[in-house]
Order: sequence, then C-alpha cells, then structure tokens
Amino acid sequence: MKQDMILILDLGSEQNVIIAREIRALGVYTEIHPHDITLEELKKLPSVKGIILNGGKNRIVDGVAIDVRDEIYSCGIPMIAVDHKTNGRCPSVPSLGDCPHCRANALAEFVFEKCGCEKNWNMDNFISDQIELIRKQVGNGKVLLALSGGVDSSVVAALLIKAIGKNLTCVHVNHGLLRKGEPEQVVKVFRDEMDANLIYVDAVDRFLDKLAGVNDPEKKRKIIGAEFIRVFEEEARKLDGIAFLGQGTIYPDIIESGTKTAKAVKAHHNVGGLPDDLKFELVEPLKMLFKDEVRKCGKALGLPDNMVYRQPFPGPGLGVRCLGAITRDRLEAVRESDAILREEFASAGLEGKVWQYFTLIPDLKSVGVRDNARSFEWPVIIRSVNTVDAMTATIEHLPYDLLDRITRRIITEVKGVNRVLYDLTPKPTGTIEWE
Ligand code: XMP
Repeated sequence: MKQDMILILDLGSEQNVIIAREIRALGVYTEIHPHDITLEELKKLPSVKGIILNGGKNRIVDGVAIDVRDEIYSCGIPMIAVDHKTNGRCPSVPSLGDCPHCRANALAEFVFEKCGCEKNWNMDNFISDQIELIRKQVGNGKVLLALSGGVDSSVVAALLIKAIGKNLTCVHVNHGLLRKGEPEQVVKVFRDEMDANLIYVDAVDRFLDKLAGVNDPEKKRKIIGAEFIRVFEEEARKLDGIAFLGQGTIYPDIIESGTKTAKAVKAHHNVGGLPDDLKFELVEPLKMLFKDEVRKCGKALGLPDNMVYRQPFPGPGLGVRCLGAITRDRLEAVRESDAILREEFASAGLEGKVWQYFTLIPDLKSVGVRDNARSFEWPVIIRSVNTVDAMTATIEHLPYDLLDRITRRIITEVKGVNRVLYDLTPKPTGTIEWE
C-alpha cells in the first residue's frame, strides 16, 4: 500500500469528520472507526501509523463512559487524545488540547514527527491502492453496477473498469426522467471510450406507463424507486455468476447513517430493497471519500468535467419537476427548457458558481398570444439556489438580461410553453424541489 494512515477512534465526539478532514488536509490519509475495534481488526487495516482517541460529549453511553480496548492501548502504535477527558484508562496518552490553533500544530507534530507519516495521501496513490484492494477482494469474480450517470456511480464505474475491466458489468437504466443528453453521454463515455461492458436498458415506456395518471408526489417517487429495482433485478437475473455488487457509497452516507455513539441523521440505502435471494457481496471503493475527493478521483480517472462537477440531481429525476401526473409532452418541455437553462448558465459563466438550477412545469395552462392567435399553454418555472447543506437555501440574484435571454429562448424553442416565471422563494418556506 502506498498510503500511511491515521486511525481516528470515535469515543462519542461530534468532531470526527472535522479532525479527519484536518489530517487529510495535511496530506495524510485517515479513517474513522468505532471505539471498540479489536486488535485483530486493526491489524487488517493497511499501514496504520498513529491513533487518535477522539472523545466528546456523547462519550457516556447508558451511564457508562465508553473506552477503547486494553489491547489497543498496548498495541505500540503512537496515540494521542483529542480532549484531555479522553485519556480513559490510560492517562499516559498525551492530549492535543482544546484550542483550535494549538490543535492544528499539535496534530501536524503528532502525524509527522511522532508517527513518521509521509505526505502521501493523493488521488494517484488512492487510486492505485484501491485497484489493489478491489483485485484482492474480487479476484476473478464478476461485479455488477447500477450506473446512473451521477457523480458517485460514474466514479465507481471508472475505478472498477481500471481494476477489473470486463469482469465489471454496468447496467444503465434509462427511465425517461434523465436530463437531455445524459443517457447518450453514459453510453459514449463508458462503452465507447472506456470500453466497458455496459448494458443499456431502455425502460422509458415502462416507467411512463406506470406513472400515467399518478398525481401524488410520494406515490410517484415510490413507483420510480420500486420500478428501478425491478428493472435492475431483471437484468441481474439474466447474468451468470455475478458475486459482487458495486456501489457508489461515499463517506458522508456512512457517517450520516450513524456511528455507535452518534444518532443516525438518515438511513442510506443506495440500492435499498434488492430481494434477499439476490445475494451479493458489496464492493464500495469510495466509501472513505468525501464528495470533493470523489470529484478529484473522477478527474484523475479521466472522466469529463460535466460528469464530475454535475449539480445535484434527485433520484426520481425530472419526474419530480413535471408536477402532478407526468405526461410525455410536458416531460419533454421540462427536459428542453432545462437544457436551455443549463446552456445559458454556462455561457454566462455561472456553471459551478450556482449550487443548483433547473426548470419545472406545473400541471396548469394559461392564456397567451402566439402568431396573432390565442394560445393556451404551460408556464416554465426557473429555480436557481445556493446552499451549503441543502437544509436551507437562498436565491441566486440572476442578472435581468440573462433571465430575459432564457425567457425568450424558452418561449420560442420549447413546444407548448408561453410563459416563464422565476421562483424567488428561499428555503424555508419553499423546498428546493417542488415535489
Ligand atoms: P429539497 O427539495 O428537499 O431538496 O429542498 C434538497 C436537495 O435534495 C435533492 N433531492 C433529492 N436527491 N433523491 C436525491 O438523491 C431524491 O429523491 C431527492 N429529492 C430531492 C434536491 O434536488 C436538492 O438538491
């Protein structure tokens, strides 16, 4: 293995991620593990050069202070505690102190001087280590991957192609709710350029038939999720000898799903709900990366910028932006107007500057005039927001001439649309999506 590692043991701290990121910023790889890791488990981790005992306010569980095992205290690997109350049964473990500035220096001193780590955490080393680990895990076995074209699944695909080539089978399900050009790009990048084993499933009619007449947003989401699993499962059953399932799980998914002391923020199921008789071992090579690191990894693997720096896109796709019961003509109008919006944002230099922007179409029509005659057509609504964590959001102050250009293009180029509106509502009270 090419990378040294500092192990963070979670003793009820709320700062695990902050410390992990501080150490990675020093150029050294870190992982967060539960406090009760055994010596045997620790020895299986590659190149652990130092251990941080990370205590905090959740240290008391059921009235008792949790602690690491004695065998870890005596394993001989250099150790430091993040707050002085964390030394547990072993007061000889030095402490980092509480002041953030002193902590940064003390962390660097611990990592480089005490543990002798090298600054060798970088994407090239990460990729070559992961390739080695993937090959060790799967041997000559076959891996299946649901490739949506989103950042995480695309980066996993690129990494697995590098590690095992044709022993990976990617399945791309086109449910008809993707943005303009996306299914084509997935085929071009993965099948044509990376020579992947890619099964493209055109399930557009199937999804749209199932969704016909369904108004309720929650029902729409459920149908899309369940149908996706059904299609994927059908494809999996057609293949022989698949033992592994690749997944684009990333570190925040694992952290948010809860450690032993922190409460779960939300449960993450990447391919939740696959039936029990499809038994796969998971391959999750990005599970220790933060989102920005996943993007760097994708870049280093040669994926195009518009795939790696994509804005967030909901799983149910354009299905939740074609409000109410989805119809093909309105869905097409959402897709076309969204493509125009993205094109104009890119020419205005706003790509990558605004967090999320898209169009949606409500299920209503208004009266207008077109070619000297009365028209009765849909409005397109523009949403353009900034946020840090998607829990709250503010509106991007778009220049008027840009809004004007976008409006003119949409009302002339998109069939069935006679008005364009800009939604100025922050979150709260509005959510980012309308459904
Ligand atoms: P809301 O509408 O709740 O959206 O303010 C917050 C962020 O989450 C995205 N979103 C989803 N992402 N699956 C996803 O992966 C979903 O079902 C989903 N619904 C909303 C939304 O686009 C926004 O970035």
